[in-house]
Amino acid sequence: MLDRETNELLTRVGPGTPMGELLRRYWQPVALCEELAPGGPPKPVKILGEDLVLFRDERGRPGLLALHCSHRGADLSYGRLEDGGLRCIYHGWLYDIQGRCLQQPGEPDGGRNRDSIRHTAYPCRDYGDFIFAYMGRSEPPLLPAFENLAAPSSHRFIRKYYQECNFLQANEGNIDPIHLSFLHAQFDEGYWSSRDRHLPIKGAESTSMAMYKQDRVPTIETEVTDFGVRIFTTRKVGEGKIYLRVSNFILPNLCAVPGPMGPDGFNMNWHVPIDDGHHWKYMITFRRSGPLDREEHKRSFEADITPDYRLIRNLGNRFQQDREEMKQRTFSGIGPSFVVHDAFATESQGAVQDRTSEHPGTTDQAIVAERKLLIRAIRDLQEGCEPPLVFHDPTANGLPGMIVLSEVLPADINVKEYVHQTIKHSAFSVQPSAAGSKM
Ligand code: FES
Ligand SMILES: [Fe+2]
Repeated sequence: MLDRETNELLTRVGPGTPMGELLRRYWQPVALCEELAPGGPPKPVKILGEDLVLFRDERGRPGLLALHCSHRGADLSYGRLEDGGLRCIYHGWLYDIQGRCLQQPGEPDGGRNRDSIRHTAYPCRDYGDFIFAYMGRSEPPLLPAFENLAAPSSHRFIRKYYQECNFLQANEGNIDPIHLSFLHAQFDEGYWSSRDRHLPIKGAESTSMAMYKQDRVPTIETEVTDFGVRIFTTRKVGEGKIYLRVSNFILPNLCAVPGPMGPDGFNMNWHVPIDDGHHWKYMITFRRSGPLDREEHKRSFEADITPDYRLIRNLGNRFQQDREEMKQRTFSGIGPSFVVHDAFATESQGAVQDRTSEHPGTTDQAIVAERKLLIRAIRDLQEGCEPPLVFHDPTANGLPGMIVLSEVLPADINVKEYVHQTIKHSAFSVQPSAAGSKM
């Protein structure tokens, strides 16, 4: 339970708010590259409570400007892409991606004072099939050299979902291992597996779904790391065996959890605020050893969404919950898709969850740890300290020690010791080179 002031501290994201300032110290995805083809129209976007326009200039470089023209406020997303920038169609002022006003064609002498105009502009980069932007007021750090972003496009599939709630709720849903045994439970496994194929789990005789059901009171342990919180969840499955799942909260608005690729990759969810009550959820499914079946992922993704990334089953239609389905097929009655289940869970908490009336249990310890870390990062930033994972040194860029596991092990194993040894001996590491240069 939080007091009102702390809840607001953690959830308000607009300019000048403490959490808003923290999030602005990190590169954030603002769109998928596929949403902004070279030569395509500018795109109005809202990020962290700011109305903006995303566009590519004639050289294909992405730019992110304040939506309203510095002259008299017309919407620049209607603008013309020409002459090295974006031209407002009201009186023709022209802006480049740095926010410089290049022309004021209706003013005498082409606008004698146009150099004094500095239209709000944020640095942008194409990276990992995203357009990333840096909305902080300081020198941009390096782009994050995460393994799943630095890999070739063929090794990942990205899904994007409009979410009608504050980003922190979704962040907290990711690191809540107990809900797997309830919200996502399926009585008819064929219903689930017909949509989303998962590779077999190392050492297991059954599916993860069956194991979530087998032990609904798992042991949950956490530890604070350099990147956030590591969560160890163990379930008793059969004689002398445990099912271990290691998932992670990554500062400030990400997670890495086991995905359909089993030990050969992971899923990362990235929750980018639109404003206090809405966000974009980007889900990156990553396969380490080679290309994944993008067509298969596309099929399952497109079964859930409209062309503008809205869920077909959504809060407005009560996720099309079916009481008959609840008897036979699923615990929730809202279909086989985990993403829809999670949208129900986080959106139904309210646009901004009132954490003054919640009652966290022992299974919520990762959430408690996550909140402490975020509060500490906010306070440190207010005192002038750079937050964790803001990279300026290419040799320190990445997520060392971040591991995702999903496997069946002997019950007498020392879980933490096993995970620490696995991290020590893991061959994979992030190559910073792809992201190592500054703007
Ligand atoms: S409002 Fe944009 S040029 Fe006048
Ligand atoms: Fe979930």
